[in-house]
Amino acid sequence: MTPGEYEETPEQRLTALRELLIHQPAMARELPGFDVEQAPADPAELFVAWLLAALRDGVPDAQVLTLSTEGLDGGPDARIVALRDVDPAAGEWWLAGDVHSPKGRQLAACARAALTWYWPALGRQVRVRGAVRTGSAAAAGETFRLLSPKSRVASLVGRQSEPLGEAAEFSAAWAVAERELAADQEIVAAGYTQYAVRAEAVEFWQGAAERRHVRLAYRRPAEDGQWTRRMLWP
Ligand SMILES: Cc1cc2nc3c(=O)[nH]c(=O)nc-3n(C[C@H](O)[C@H](O)[C@H](O)COP(=O)(O)O)c2cc1C
Repeated sequence: MTPGEYEETPEQRLTALRELLIHQPAMARELPGFDVEQAPADPAELFVAWLLAALRDGVPDAQVLTLSTEGLDGGPDARIVALRDVDPAAGEWWLAGDVHSPKGRQLAACARAALTWYWPALGRQVRVRGAVRTGSAAAAGETFRLLSPKSRVASLVGRQSEPLGEAAEFSAAWAVAERELAADQEIVAAGYTQYAVRAEAVEFWQGAAERRHVRLAYRRPAEDGQWTRRMLWP
């Protein structure tokens, strides 16, 4: 907590939070429109336009998304990851992570995922669902070498989501990984893996302050590559 936050009691904070949850409406600001008649036939094209608009508009971390997977216990699981690429020709959205992490193991067991973005300044949500495939090790290696040194060190440390006994253990592992990278600039973290989500369903949601939201859903049956689209009740 920040120093100012200690000045309130937990009860005062909870009361203040409840007040805000009731009286602070989401999307109470001027938002762009969404003319569905002008929407392209390919949802990836529209996604690129919306993400670019969000990034150019200064939406912080506009590329990051919630990646939802099926947990090994059959229940849902979700976490934030960064979008690495979009390939409209293949209809694929690319992510990266450690194959040994919980999400990596979950995707190995059930290769399906849902991706969700929300860009608050624009009141826009995008949802993507589809089958997941793993990219080649060669391509992952090429991408890995382009990452910043700090990102590469973080990946080389590995052991993501395992319990950490003490912070000093992490510092020691970080120092080892830094030495590994210094000794071999071409090194690639063993678990570094790229994943492509091949979209079967993509939904664009444009919020409106007066609650007349606009939704456009694209669907593509696995057996034929043609996208169909329809509006949805908000
Ligand atoms: C802004 C942001 C970006 C992140 N990007 C990634 C990413 O691209 N890949 C990744 O594996 N984890 C990323 N993380 C960390 C994940 O949210 C998560 O903590 C980690 O992947 C472990 O998840 P798991 O235990 O479900 O495997 C990011 C977290 C944040 C907040």
